[in-house]
Amino acid sequence: MIKYLGSKRGLLPQILRAVGAAAGDRAVVADLFSGSARVAHALKAAGWRVVANDELEFARTLACGLVQADTEHWGRRAEKLLADLSHLPPAPGWFTATYAETARYLHPVNAARLEAMRQAVERLDPEPELRAVLLTALVQAADRVDSCAGHQMSFMRELAPRALKPLALRLPELLPQPASGPCLALGEDALALAGSIDCDVAYLDPPYDQHAYLSNYHLWETLVRWDRPQTYGRAQKRAACRIHRSPFNSRAGIGPAFARLIGSLRARTLVVSFGAEGFLARAELERMLAGRGFLHVLEVPHRRYAGTRLGIHNARGEKVGTPGPEATMERLYVASDRRLDLPRDQDYRAVAVRLPEAV
Ligand SMILES: C[S@@+](CC[C@H](N)C(=O)[O-])C[C@H]1O[C@@H](n2cnc3c(N)ncnc32)[C@H](O)[C@@H]1O
Repeated sequence: MIKYLGSKRGLLPQILRAVGAAAGDRAVVADLFSGSARVAHALKAAGWRVVANDELEFARTLACGLVQADTEHWGRRAEKLLADLSHLPPAPGWFTATYAETARYLHPVNAARLEAMRQAVERLDPEPELRAVLLTALVQAADRVDSCAGHQMSFMRELAPRALKPLALRLPELLPQPASGPCLALGEDALALAGSIDCDVAYLDPPYDQHAYLSNYHLWETLVRWDRPQTYGRAQKRAACRIHRSPFNSRAGIGPAFARLIGSLRARTLVVSFGAEGFLARAELERMLAGRGFLHVLEVPHRRYAGTRLGIHNARGEKVGTPGPEATMERLYVASDRRLDLPRDQDYRAVAVRLPEAV
């Protein structure tokens, strides 16, 4: 899985317990802001049918490669194709010039090998799920040898030690299809999707501050789209980064967007991740969720993403700020039309549970 700002890797046990308290074996669970697909993948691994959605194309592709695609369908073929791609000679072109010379996110040899592999996938033109598995492998391989502090707003002044390692493709962590049926990956605006999606539990993990994910991961978007975009600035971001904004990235927009989202979803249970430092205060979110019936709020200390722990870097990759605190508080709001059994056992040792708040 790739490094991702706001990844909920550390909260998986709590998220799975919350969903498990609400969802039967045959339930459909929707992850409307799936990002790295880490949560959606864990939900599929736990046996639920999952709908994973994200508005960015690379995130939709990760969701398709890691959640929609099943190992029994694509595992063998993908493994064989990835072995073939691994042996291609480097093919330096616009991608290498832009992202390994003008900007320096990758070692030029790794970038040129990646460029050869990506062109080959384009020529192969495989079935959509297989394509997503191959592109997921490329993004994951590039992520393991990149030279930035967890996002692509800047890159390190000197290539990071991991960037000197040779790029190596691995088969992504494919899973078998759940007994109750297939999973699905979508690339929609969650606000447009919310009213039409049929699911038992909706997991909501939107951005909660000003950091736009397209800017943070523009390189993955370009690697997946392969559309040779116009780029700008030292970071060589896609031109679309200048205009693309999610309402969840705005202090003024996030409240109305959240209220609309919560109001449109028909799922019986909502599980919402929201950090204590986000644009919305706990009381505001609780007010929005209160109409759903029973509300549990779980507080989980959470390790910050690498960038904050390493310090703040400017656009030239120079350190300009001191590292922030190691941990922050993540909150999981579980709102349901019925009282859920969320026991305080080992997994919930660090969790404060307010039980129940009927309205
Ligand atoms: C906090 S991240 C999700 C992290 C994810 N749970 C994980 O563990 O990797 C928020 C995600 O919401 C997506 N996003 C932002 N606005 C959106 C919208 N209106 N509709 C769908 N996805 C959106 C971003 O692209 C980003 O991937």
